[in-house]
Amino acid sequence: MTAGICWGYINDVNAFKLLATLVTVAVASMYSLVYLLSHTPREPFSEELQSITVDENGDRLTTELVAVNSATHHASEGILLSVVVPSYNETGRILLMLTEAIKYLESAFPQKWEIIIVDDGSRDGTTDYCLKQAHEQFKLRAGELRVIHFIKNRGKGGAVRQGMLHIRGKYGLFADADGASKFSDVEKLLESVKKLEKNETGKDKAAVAIGSRAHMINTDAVVKRSVIRNFLMYGLHTLVFVFGIRSIKDTQCGFKLFNKAAIEQIFPYLHTEGWIFDVEILMLAIRKLIPIVEVPISWHEVDGSKMELARDSINMAKDLVVIRMAYILGIYKDYRKI
Ligand SMILES: *[C@@H]1O[C@H](CO)[C@@H](O)[C@H](O)[C@H]1NC(C)=O
Ligand SMILES: *[C@@H]1O[C@H](CO)[C@@H](O)[C@H](O)[C@H]1NC(C)=O
Repeated sequence: MTAGICWGYINDVNAFKLLATLVTVAVASMYSLVYLLSHTPREPFSEELQSITVDENGDRLTTELVAVNSATHHASEGILLSVVVPSYNETGRILLMLTEAIKYLESAFPQKWEIIIVDDGSRDGTTDYCLKQAHEQFKLRAGELRVIHFIKNRGKGGAVRQGMLHIRGKYGLFADADGASKFSDVEKLLESVKKLEKNETGKDKAAVAIGSRAHMINTDAVVKRSVIRNFLMYGLHTLVFVFGIRSIKDTQCGFKLFNKAAIEQIFPYLHTEGWIFDVEILMLAIRKLIPIVEVPISWHEVDGSKMELARDSINMAKDLVVIRMAYILGIYKDYRKI
């Protein structure tokens, strides 16, 4: 009897040791794997810490970027809205978007806006093209349209991050260069953020409003997409639901507005430079208890997406899991500036 109990006890101890070893090995391998797949934004080249604009004569001026959270920030310049447009090879599409945006901005907030094109290492002369249009087509004043030119491609998230961290306005919008969103809907986002700001009791009143296409899910714009695109879209939505965020219906819309306090609390901590960066932005906002409101906007499908469906979908799925696991394992920290 005694021997039997003893025997059972030893077995339990061995089983426990085995289990503990397995768990340790599993956690260690998981940690190493996530660590290897995790991202740190690369250091900017010195040229990427400058912005280029054109003056009334069409001459180029280059100035050092000033970080939103620096003491010398341009608070006195009176700019209300900064629009950050991540751009890669956009000479074919961006003119339409710029025309719509500048027309709206000039009538809604005359001389209180700026557009920052972040040229993510384009090979088609996007920087030169935009500066030329700023002068010839739009006759803009110096500083109204600035270009940050990346020497090497970083990805959309890296471009949005560098732009947002160097806006001069009180509010920063990032908007896709394809013009798929109706630009004047920024007014709805602005109203929503201002409502959130009023409601907030915290001292800095950070707030985020994001465009949402969730109301269009059964409309022509979505149904007309190819079967494979819709399949990938639903797959991604499911993954975002499982690994990312449940409280937000449309995480991927390229039309998101942040006030300066929200930018300071989110973008210095953003790791992801690839396509799925929107999810990390929203996760950071949620972790920091920054209120987010989803605002239905008008949106239409535009051809010429720079995504390569198969490769980029796999990378998005991988990065999504990496983001979630990296926060759980403490590899990504939301209080350590990168
Ligand atoms: C970008 O444009 C360059 C020059 O037109 C071209 O060689 C390159 O393939 C383009 N890249 C993509 C991803 O479209
Ligand atoms: C403002 O706060 C009240 C009370 O907490 C809440 O019911 C309301 O929905 C909030 N409004 C907005 C725009 O968030």
